[in-house]
Amino acid sequence: MKNEFSSSTFGWLAGALLAATLLGCSKPPPAPPKAPPTPEEKSKNTISKAAFGTLPDGTAVDLFTMVNANGMEVRATNYGGIITALLVPDGTGKTTDVVLGLKSFDEYAKNPPYFGAIIGRYGNRIGKGQFKIDDQTYKLPKNDGPNTLHGGVRGFDKVVWQAEPFEKEDSVGVIFTYTSKDGEEGFPGNLQTRVTYTLTDKNELSFDYHATTDKPTVVNLTQHSYFNLAGDGNGDVLGHEFTIYANEYTPVNKLLIPTGKIESVTDTPFDFRNKVKLADRVNVDNEQIKFGKGIDHNFVLKKKQPGLTLAARVSEPSTRRVMEVHTTEPGVQFYTGNFLDDTLAAKAGKPYVKHGGFCLETQHYPDSPNQSAFPSTVLRPGEEYNSKTVYTFSVR
Ligand code: BGC
Repeated sequence: MKNEFSSSTFGWLAGALLAATLLGCSKPPPAPPKAPPTPEEKSKNTISKAAFGTLPDGTAVDLFTMVNANGMEVRATNYGGIITALLVPDGTGKTTDVVLGLKSFDEYAKNPPYFGAIIGRYGNRIGKGQFKIDDQTYKLPKNDGPNTLHGGVRGFDKVVWQAEPFEKEDSVGVIFTYTSKDGEEGFPGNLQTRVTYTLTDKNELSFDYHATTDKPTVVNLTQHSYFNLAGDGNGDVLGHEFTIYANEYTPVNKLLIPTGKIESVTDTPFDFRNKVKLADRVNVDNEQIKFGKGIDHNFVLKKKQPGLTLAARVSEPSTRRVMEVHTTEPGVQFYTGNFLDDTLAAKAGKPYVKHGGFCLETQHYPDSPNQSAFPSTVLRPGEEYNSKTVYTFSVR
């Protein structure tokens, strides 16, 4: 590993912080402007760190800014691993933020839509907030009607992770680690968790997830970034074109718990095997779409072999941005921002509209701990949970 931080960036930030203190500001700005890169830095992958905020218990939280050799930029905090900004070039080379987010650290400390966060210990829903392993029943806090969503009341999106930044010849990133205690949010076993964010100079942003446990438990980790490839806050994503490499999906009941069936997408609004404009699918008269208020469903990926598989491809015609998702996971939750409304303090300055962003959350299927026909999410002592997802950005 080379120098972790560029000294010019550090010096500039220190100066900015001193100036802020002298002016009597008690809180650092949420997303501090970057130091101008030196000519040498411009052709390298770099990372810098700045204070981001303080939790009510006094814990200080940082913001890491990763920039690759092409100028693509990722900002992520060690609070929930939240990605607060992702700057990606368009067809003309102009770089714009393509993820949704909030105005300040205090807003992120609540973050009702889970913008940009690591989700765990169990991503998506567990029906009735309970499950069994080896005949022992575990009860979880219910935070979504009668069900548990995204790991409970204080999931992995609301904890402070240890963060270790790294810079390499062809990439830059942060290793986030967190130990979830036995019994935390009702889950059994001390879970040692590691999530590595890597930005490569090929404009790939990858997430490597790893976990081990000392008691049998369930694990389903994912990343909850909301994208608008036309630019953050730039209206809805209904004009985006989606291809999802899935022959099947898992239908749900009205509380969005899978029925347990795995059904063909043929002749349903969930057939994205050929490129489809989202507008053609979210407003159709279909019971499943009504349950989700749009698409909020798990797609069963065509994956036949271990390793990374292409899960989805998204393109945005006006900017020509393209995003591809590769994953080792068997499913992807395609969520079309159906619950977004104008109550959020959107960082874009104007309210996020319904369908103002989309998520492609690679994962095991929702409610797997209670669904015997779904691939298992049980992790036992001595086993390793390993999962990888790569978002690749390009233009067409
Ligand atoms: C779920 C949605 C939920 C959203 C925000 C998605 O993963 O599938 O139902 O509203 O996260 O919590």
